Amino acid sequence: MSESLTIALSKGRIFKETVPLLARAGIEPVEDPERSRKLILDTNLPQMKLVIVRASDVPTYVEYGAADLGVAGKDVLLEHGGEGVYEPLDLRIARCRLMLAERPGLAPRPGRRRIATKYVQSARRYFAAKGEQVEIIKLYGSMELAPLVGLAEAIVDVVDTGNTLRANGLEPTEHIADISSRLIVNKAAMKTKSRAIKDFIAHMQAAVEDLKQSA
Ligand code: ATP
Ligand code: PRP
Repeated sequence: MSESLTIALSKGRIFKETVPLLARAGIEPVEDPERSRKLILDTNLPQMKLVIVRASDVPTYVEYGAADLGVAGKDVLLEHGGEGVYEPLDLRIARCRLMLAERPGLAPRPGRRRIATKYVQSARRYFAAKGEQVEIIKLYGSMELAPLVGLAEAIVDVVDTGNTLRANGLEPTEHIADISSRLIVNKAAMKTKSRAIKDFIAHMQAAVEDLKQSA
């Protein structure tokens, strides 16, 4: 009987883009989290289970060993800090860019610029490295609204096509980081379940290479 493994995934984009990679490793979820309300999903392999959590909670589940492995955006890992988890593989899925975005032509206000974002740690580090003092306003979503209603002069958010920014009259002005999703592993499980985890990483790596070739 091989070692059991639990993988933490979020619904939506990460689940959809991870499923083809899992399939190439011979793992198929038996249920679709968009249809089922279950949070623990079986797969075709009895020893392999998926747990469905919020995207920003994936590193926490893996850090505490509630899941052995997880798939998390680099944006989320930068906020979490990455303590207690290994990050052995870039899965090259859910790719986007972390950017500063502003309203063109907005007259500067006196004093520190106000930056609205859910990416507080990344924004803090970025402006500290530039030597610019800013006021960071923590939001949990709909960041694009903040400059339109005078809450902030600029936002830090992830951008893919740029459609969301355009639809709200904003422009990306500074590139902060390239983002993709990473496979993360609980540090203790890496030792105690080393064979199963190394096998799994090797399969996922091969799947990523396959998809890279076919892209
Ligand atoms: P939470 O539910 O915790 O608030 P979320 O709503 O950001 O998280 P998703 O929208 O599913 O969760 O995004 C998951 C990950 O996908 C993000 O952490 C980011 O790495 C990436 N991502 C976000 N938006 C895009 C996008 N438009 N295109 C490509 N990748 C994206
Ligand atoms: C994400 C993110 C941005 C948008 C960027 O939102 O929060 O607003 O994508 O993508 P774009 O540049 O292609 O428009 P998402 O669509 O995931 O919705 P969410 O806010 O519910 O996460």
